[in-house]
Order: sequence, then structure tokens, then C-alpha cells
Amino acid sequence: MTNQHGVTLSILSLGSTIYEISVPTKTGKRNLVLNYAHSRDYLDNPFYVCMAIGRTAGRIANGRLMLDGQTIQLPTNEGSTTLHGGAQGFNTQIWQGEIVHATNEDVIKMYHEQASSDGFPGQMLVCVTYSLTKDDVVEIKFSANSNEKTVFNPTQHTYFNLGKTETIKQHWLKINSNQVLELDKQKIPTTKKLPVAQTSFDFQGSTKLGTAIAAMSDTNEKGLDDLFVVQPDESGIIAELADPETNISVAIESKRNGLVAFTANSFTEEHMNLIRTKGVGRPYAGIALEPETLTGLEKENDFSEIELQPNRPKSYTIKYHLHF
Ligand code: GAL
Repeated sequence: MTNQHGVTLSILSLGSTIYEISVPTKTGKRNLVLNYAHSRDYLDNPFYVCMAIGRTAGRIANGRLMLDGQTIQLPTNEGSTTLHGGAQGFNTQIWQGEIVHATNEDVIKMYHEQASSDGFPGQMLVCVTYSLTKDDVVEIKFSANSNEKTVFNPTQHTYFNLGKTETIKQHWLKINSNQVLELDKQKIPTTKKLPVAQTSFDFQGSTKLGTAIAAMSDTNEKGLDDLFVVQPDESGIIAELADPETNISVAIESKRNGLVAFTANSFTEEHMNLIRTKGVGRPYAGIALEPETLTGLEKENDFSEIELQPNRPKSYTIKYHLHF
């Protein structure tokens, strides 16, 4: 879809993946998200490039989901952990797509029925609606309805790179967050929230990513892979990413309490046929900013925040406000 300002949004049926969000430049257009040359490249590595994530974004320790006091053993796909909906998550599915032309804006609707063969309870009908507004906002609405009680905590794993260079180190990032979650060795949050003040995780003022990443060089992760507890500002914005060279920025709107920021620290050279980096992956090639619901903040293994009751549809919206 292309709007009046020449912004283009395109989606792939594999994984309900954002393939392109491009904005016009003096000489052509600039794609603000990472993508690959071939659809098979998307499943060639564990990085979920720009794909839809569900049923649950993030990690479930030991694949143990608690619902109504019962433990459901989920299949694991990252050692002992169930990551991003498991091996048959939304990103691995082929979605049906439809473009709906409306007076104000066109929308791309992606549909899919997530079967309980993925190990989670419930046959779940999922629809992701992508719209592109006249004022350059990309809206992503995830809706689901299940025949049984299950969990639903979707996100879009969009990696942005708004610049001309091969990494995001020149970008500036602001996150409306004064706490990050403590993580254990498996990167699973404990119930402890750590204040960001006076640490390199403080992005409350706009901060240059290269500087923040350099300050994290003695950590295991060597960059950001963290869950921030966020407070939307008066316009509903939770984070903003900007590239001073191209003067392009994206502000992220979400009503949920969390944002994962991942600076692609572990991107590998091989198996990453990215168009931008001419087929060679490299750390910091992009930054994934993933709005989601943080669970178990008060009590371990508490999934009540993300429960989806039978036949009670629920939806979540993420918006990218583009400025260029
Ligand atoms: C992020 C997660 C990272 C990594 C990435 C996908 O959401 O926090 O640890 O798994 O997804 O490669």
C-alpha cells in the first residue's frame, strides 16, 4: 500500500511479516526495516526478522504455562525455554491476506487459524490488520478469538534501521521507562524490577545507541536485549528512534506495559541474507522494538495478564508514527 506522501507498506503472507516500510527521499525511497532476498531466509536463523509473534511474545521458562492452577507443558524451542510462541508460532505460518480499500485509508488484513497442535490450548482465529494513514502512521492491530481459554500476547518483531549506514549505532533512542526487568541466565525475567537511573539502560532522555552499546561492552549481551516497563506519554508514545543523518524518526505508540529493545547483538554473518547488508549479517544491523505485555511482574509464572477467555475476542494495537 502507498499513501499520498509516497510511504509504502508491504506485508508477506509468510509469518505476517512486514517486508517494507519505505519513505520517499530526494532520489528515491528508503526502506526503514530489515528484510531478506528470499522468503526461505526468514526461517534460516532465530532472529524473527519483522515477523508477527504469537501466541506469546517473549520467553516461558521451561515451557511451563500456568492456567487456572494447571501446568500446561509447551514444546520448547530454545533449550528449555518456549520463545515467541514456540516452533509453530505465528511467524512460521502462512497467512491469508486481503487488501481492503476504504475511503480514508487502505488496509491489509491477514488471517490465520492457529491450531492447538502448536501445544497451546485453544483453536485461535487471529487477524492482523495493517493500515497506513494519510498522516504516515502504520497501525498494526492484532485480534484473536479462541474456543478455549488460552494466552495471547502478540507483537511485531520489526527491526528498524532508519539510516544510511549498516548499523544503528548513530541512531538516538528514547524510551519512557524508569525500570527494566532483571533477567536470569536463560534471559527469563525474575520478579525484580531494576531502576534505570544512573545506568546505561536509562533512555528517558534521548541517548545515542553507539554510546549506550559501548557502555555495555562488558556485559554478556554486549548491547540491549531487555524488557522495559513503560509508561506512555500524553500522546500514548512509549519510545522514539531517530537517525540524525537522514532526519527520519519513528515514534512507537502502545497501551501495554512493556517494550523489548533488542539491538541485534547476536546477529551472525551467515544465514542472514539481508538485503541491506548484501547477504551478510552483522551485529547492530537493526534494532527491534517490540511492544508487549509484561507478565509475572508481581508473582512468578503468573500469566493472568495475557489470558484470553473462550469466545471473548481481544485486540492490541501498535502504531508507528513516521517522521521524515
Ligand atoms: C527478542 C529476544 C531476543 C531474541 C530476539 C529474536 O525478542 O528478546 O533475545 O530472541 O527476540 O532473535
